[in-house]
Amino acid sequence: MVKVTVCGAAGGIGQPLSLLLKQSDLIDHLSLYDIVNTPGVAADLSHINTKAKVTGHVGAPSLEEAIKDSDVVVIPAGVPRKPGMTRDDLFKINAGIVRDLATAAAKFSPKAFMLIISNPVNSTVPIVAEVFKKHNVYDPKRIFGVTTLDIVRASTFVSSLIGAEAHSLRVPVVGGHSGVTILPLLSQVKGADKLSREQIEAVTNRIQFGGDEVVKAKDGLGSATLSMAYAGARFTFSVLDAIVKHKTVVEYSYVNLEADGEGAASIRAEVGDLEYFSPRVDIGPHGVAKIHPLGSLSSYEKQLLSAAIPELQGNIVKGASFVDTAH
Ligand code: NAI
Repeated sequence: MVKVTVCGAAGGIGQPLSLLLKQSDLIDHLSLYDIVNTPGVAADLSHINTKAKVTGHVGAPSLEEAIKDSDVVVIPAGVPRKPGMTRDDLFKINAGIVRDLATAAAKFSPKAFMLIISNPVNSTVPIVAEVFKKHNVYDPKRIFGVTTLDIVRASTFVSSLIGAEAHSLRVPVVGGHSGVTILPLLSQVKGADKLSREQIEAVTNRIQFGGDEVVKAKDGLGSATLSMAYAGARFTFSVLDAIVKHKTVVEYSYVNLEADGEGAASIRAEVGDLEYFSPRVDIGPHGVAKIHPLGSLSSYEKQLLSAAIPELQGNIVKGASFVDTAH
């Protein structure tokens, strides 16, 4: 029995994400939790003739039942950005929401793979880790910040510039998930060497701030939901391939660098004493199996990395210390 729980399932991301997950043959039970509207979303999805049984759970008293014994918990709960806001501006509201959901997961599903979508991801992932530590169930191999949308955007934007097939073009994007912490490694993309320095800088900026295009176009009605649902489903399917089919899958994800004792040494030489970073990771049935080093960087990418590190450091401390200080 494979159980996947979506927390925030009635939201802009949660609904299309749940729809995409309902299509998977690898899920037996799709559990939908939110503080509003999940009975309707669950009833609607339950009429689709695919394998997963769908249940809807609404409000805090039903959180235990929603989340217990999950193999995967996906969290897109919380408020999205409005024009002019940074992801960090969401911290005030989303930090508490993520802490409470993580607390329930630590109590009732301590072995679940935790996939964190709620922003600011750079801080919400450390929050989940601290909550799991508090409950003595922490395993850094199973807590992931979902940065797949940056990868998806990068392959769309770069492929249109170099004339490659968007679906198969893999552009490494490392770092974190906000503005200058998003670090596309175009020097490692075959065919990107024909881009001028100006084109590289422009497309790098577009990948870093691509979310703002959507926030602006939605004009106060939120941020990326449909492309995020696609990206979130893609990452969840990879994780399910690892858990259910015992495959080793390769993804980029924001993880604690302790998750791989062996690889940590080489990446630490590249990123200093950052605790969290989004590198290329191999994920197996027990979670992170290997963290890959960044590899060779252009001088421009080295500059971007130097700008990302202090910003990430601040975001990490803010998340980790929230759990210590919060009541
Ligand atoms: P939304 O407002 O449409 O949906 C959020 C849902 O969370 C709502 O249904 C709300 O009722 C629910 N919610 C609020 N408090 C909750 C609680 N305590 N427990 C369970 N559910 C709760 O927002 P949207 O657009 O779906 O975005 C959700 C989050 O995802 C935001 O923080 C946004 O910034 C983030 N996001 C992350 C991306 C990434 O790449 N990681 C990309 C885009 C958005």
